[in-house]
Amino acid sequence: MLTLNKLVIASNNPGKLREIAAILAPLKIEVLPQAAFGVPEAEEPHCTFVENALAKARHASRLTGLPALADDSGVCVHALGGEPGVHSARYAGTADAVDRETQDRLNNEKLLQALAGTDDRSAHYCCVIVLVRHADDPQPLIAEAEWHGEILEVPRGNGGFGYDPFFLIPELGRTGAELAAAEKNALSHRGRALAVLVQRLRELPQD
Ligand code: IMP
Repeated sequence: MLTLNKLVIASNNPGKLREIAAILAPLKIEVLPQAAFGVPEAEEPHCTFVENALAKARHASRLTGLPALADDSGVCVHALGGEPGVHSARYAGTADAVDRETQDRLNNEKLLQALAGTDDRSAHYCCVIVLVRHADDPQPLIAEAEWHGEILEVPRGNGGFGYDPFFLIPELGRTGAELAAAEKNALSHRGRALAVLVQRLRELPQD
């Protein structure tokens, strides 16, 4: 496995940071959020998750001099042609001034309005994880996973973050926000993408 002692996580989203840190904990790598180095949010100008994840990872690695891991993710609602998709974080507007809870609430309100009167409420979360060993790494490690469900009209549960209270997993009859943290990490787009990435890391030759 590639020798990694320290890894910066290219995110300022506390929900994501919590989940990523918990999933990577068994690897015994020192995992630090980019905020610990004063790294500001990177621009996410691209129309694909993978391009945005790469941009975030390279940005964090360039500013810290460390290997960096980024997640770009979002909820793709089928009746909306895949929206909000890569725009999920700021679906209801850019709103730098509002806190994350308010942003999540406004995003969910906008999603419910967009789906009003629609029978097809199927959706999937998508997560692309990218790990760069240095800012110009020509061979980033990339892993992707989806998590399928349906958008409810009424929220349920207090766990998770973002769209989770409205995201029902039909096989479980529970929303993402009704799952314990470990349960969500075992099933979710982020948890499974990270598991693939960890496997890729294990398969790399030792430095
Ligand atoms: P990013 O920071 O541009 O990748 O934005 C990801 C956004 O997608 C988050 O801010 C949430 O709105 C949404 N999202 C991604 N993953 C999840 C999840 O696991 N639960 C709920 N919302 C999520």
